[in-house]
Amino acid sequence: MKLRSVRGTHDLFGDHINKFNIIQKVVLKYAELNNFKQIQTPIFEFTELFEKPLGEQSDVVLKEMYTFKDRNDELLTLRPEYTTPMIRAAVTNNLLNELPLKVYGLGPMFRRERPQKGRYRQFNQINFEIFGSNDYIADLEIISLAHDILNHLLPETNIILHINSLGDRDNLLEYKKNLTKFFELNKLKLSEESNQKIYSNPLRILDSKNEQDIEISKKAPSISDYISSQSKKNFEDVKVGLNSYNIKFIENYKLVRGLDYYCGTVFEFKTNELGSQDTLLGGGRYDGLIGTLGGPDISGIGWAAGIERISMLMKNMDNYLSNIHLAVSNERFKSHLIKIMKYLKLNKISFFWNYKYNLKKSLSKASINKASYVVIIGENEFNKDFYTIKNLNSGIQTELNIEEIHKFLNDQS
Ligand code: HAM
Repeated sequence: MKLRSVRGTHDLFGDHINKFNIIQKVVLKYAELNNFKQIQTPIFEFTELFEKPLGEQSDVVLKEMYTFKDRNDELLTLRPEYTTPMIRAAVTNNLLNELPLKVYGLGPMFRRERPQKGRYRQFNQINFEIFGSNDYIADLEIISLAHDILNHLLPETNIILHINSLGDRDNLLEYKKNLTKFFELNKLKLSEESNQKIYSNPLRILDSKNEQDIEISKKAPSISDYISSQSKKNFEDVKVGLNSYNIKFIENYKLVRGLDYYCGTVFEFKTNELGSQDTLLGGGRYDGLIGTLGGPDISGIGWAAGIERISMLMKNMDNYLSNIHLAVSNERFKSHLIKIMKYLKLNKISFFWNYKYNLKKSLSKASINKASYVVIIGENEFNKDFYTIKNLNSGIQTELNIEEIHKFLNDQS
């Protein structure tokens, strides 16, 4: 048997797992700061949880779900997204008695898409939701949280926020009807894929990447002509709020999102640095969804971001590796080594040793790992009870007594 991994899956190790852990740490910090509580739901749920809410004609439900029959013939699905499982968990655990409920989660999702750069069949999402408020302040809170987290993790990346309003359910239905009429008239000019969506999912034709479709969509009716005055006012308020937070955005009337449950404000953070899978984070309002799923009739808004896509853009990880390496020339100096290890641990200074009594090999490992300092332990150091610290960037060596090391390293940073 030839060992291989399943297409569209990937192992996390080395730099990738370091980045994953950093992302997780940053997410936890912002979640705490903004009073979101963590929920972890099972990897699989009953299939019906996803089918209707995500849209029976959506790509996810039609082509991408990993669904299987359990031994008792129940249909189960590996979660393709986190919003519906979070709602399910909130309802079945009676968490919606106290509103608003602000929750977040982080973990693997599964979609059988065509794998390519930035697109996997098992990928990880960060997911934030606010249940129980239809105030536009909740829209602002959730969008600015996304902005802050992305800014923290990717300070040098060019990221643009696109926003749109799909209005309320009724005007969205009316709009879809008119889109279908418009695309029917232009049927012959549309791509084959879009042709199949004219009746089932006309909104998705608007964000087709096919050039002919894009040309035709330019003349399609705009959602802005259909949304109610109340939705318009809400959207205006969101935009004013974003301006007051100094968050730049583009109004994009073609932004419709891929899942069916949205209405009201929708948004995506995109970058031109990732190729065709350019959306880092997407979300929006889904008023009506919680009620449809059997919960109370309350509003909701949230977003999810792809951890793999974020980590692809994270630059140098050198600073996150252990910055200090140890190098010992001979086994005879073990007690001197143990002494410094104890000291570094006590002072919460992270270090790395390659378990080799060989200065050359340890120094070369330090250079491969891009460490900044090597603590050298040789004959002299052992006999006279001191340590030599070599700065690998400048090449300068300093001889120090053990109790001077902490201050020395602090002064350097
Ligand atoms: P989504 O737009 O389907 O939204 O996914 C959100 C993000 O997950 C995408 O922007 C992308 O970064 C990442 N992603 C999606 N599919 C893949 C894939 N195959 N490989 C790698 N990354 C991927 C949702 O899932 C909604 N539940 C978001 C939401 C939360 N809306 C309201 N609350």
